[in-house]
Amino acid sequence: MRYFKPINSNIDFKKIKLQPEGEVIIRKLSDMVDMYQNQEAIKETLKENPIIYKFYNVKIPEDKGHLQHCISIVYPGKIGGEYYMTKGHFHKIKDTAEIYLTLKGRGKLVMQTPDNECKILEMKEGSISYIPPYWAHRTINIGKEPLIFFGVYRGDAGHNYGIIEKKVWL
Ligand SMILES: [Fe+2]
Repeated sequence: MRYFKPINSNIDFKKIKLQPEGEVIIRKLSDMVDMYQNQEAIKETLKENPIIYKFYNVKIPEDKGHLQHCISIVYPGKIGGEYYMTKGHFHKIKDTAEIYLTLKGRGKLVMQTPDNECKILEMKEGSISYIPPYWAHRTINIGKEPLIFFGVYRGDAGHNYGIIEKKVWL
């Protein structure tokens, strides 16, 4: 049998990145215009089109026996009156959970079930947040520094952003 080899990744807190980098996914305001309310503020801010958040994925097979893990960075800022936030998603395999460990910054972890039950958890350095199966999840940076957290979830869980894009969140 061919075994996947154990690997280490390291967080560089000064450069705010993961080594080795793996896959880097960057979300700018232009990727999320439907997620903010204030159209005037969106139009104005689009001139600069800031990065709202990005994440570094360690390269792990997308199989159920594996654990995907990533470092996410949500930058500080507001669009109109709304804080920078992630797109939010359900997992494609809905009954898969996730854990976030907050490393730096201050945020809110906003969650919602398909039946519209909501729950919001604080994110601050050292918070270990458990996102149970079925809960959609989004993070919001409410501080002045980047919000940095480590996430780990079942290898084949997948992401479904579409439902959140179509639905008015909360
Ligand atoms: Fe997730």
